[in-house]
Amino acid sequence: MSWRATILTLFPEMFPGPLGHSLAGRALREGVWGLEAIDIRGFATDRHRSVDDTPCGGGAGMVLRPDVVDAAVGAALAAGAARPALVLTPRGRPLTQARVRELTAGPGAILLCGRFEGIDQRVIEARALEEISIGDYVLSGGETAAMVLLDACIRLLPGVMGAAASAEEESFSSGLLEYPHYTRPTEWQGRAVPPVLLSGHHAEIAAWRRAEAERITRERRPDLWAKLHPHAAEAEAMDGRPAAA
Ligand code: ADE
Repeated sequence: MSWRATILTLFPEMFPGPLGHSLAGRALREGVWGLEAIDIRGFATDRHRSVDDTPCGGGAGMVLRPDVVDAAVGAALAAGAARPALVLTPRGRPLTQARVRELTAGPGAILLCGRFEGIDQRVIEARALEEISIGDYVLSGGETAAMVLLDACIRLLPGVMGAAASAEEESFSSGLLEYPHYTRPTEWQGRAVPPVLLSGHHAEIAAWRRAEAERITRERRPDLWAKLHPHAAEAEAMDGRPAAA
């Protein structure tokens, strides 16, 4: 059985969207993974087919009804092997490469996409939905977040990217950001490729790349750097100078 994604959304026509192209698209056509986008509105029961209502306690926007969302989640869970059910929301736990790896190792995922102001809290609790955020900014809906999550998972499925993906995955797992890349021409608009990369000295090239990865991580992501070198980061914070790794 291939890895299966079920999307619960008010906009099923948004899918596969970008996931129908490039490597994910080829893998989809080859059956490496399967996608099913289900319209939440199909589970509405009243004659207006309403899926949302005004927030209890007042305030702006609309809230997705628990009964309609519950029926949609129930239908997705009933089909096939047991899969984790996630909801994309800016108030979720931040998505990590570690969680992506776990999801990829399983049978697939059910992804509920929020719209409007939110989803009734009771159905999130009743279905034990895992709330996931893709970053500290607010999107207009969970659909693009679901695409981001799926893209991260699909590229790790066996056969989707081959050896390149596993190497890259390892480089992120090292906890460092990537070193800079260069190709020909060796000089472009007065900018030269760092000479060490043209030297043919494999050990020196590896050392240069490691040093650059460390420098960039320290500069851009002190939070990642602190996880790798808690003591060095502490000293740096105290005297304001970069500490030796
Ligand atoms: N829906 C709206 N904003 C989101 C975010 N940052 N992450 C996940 N889902 C979202």
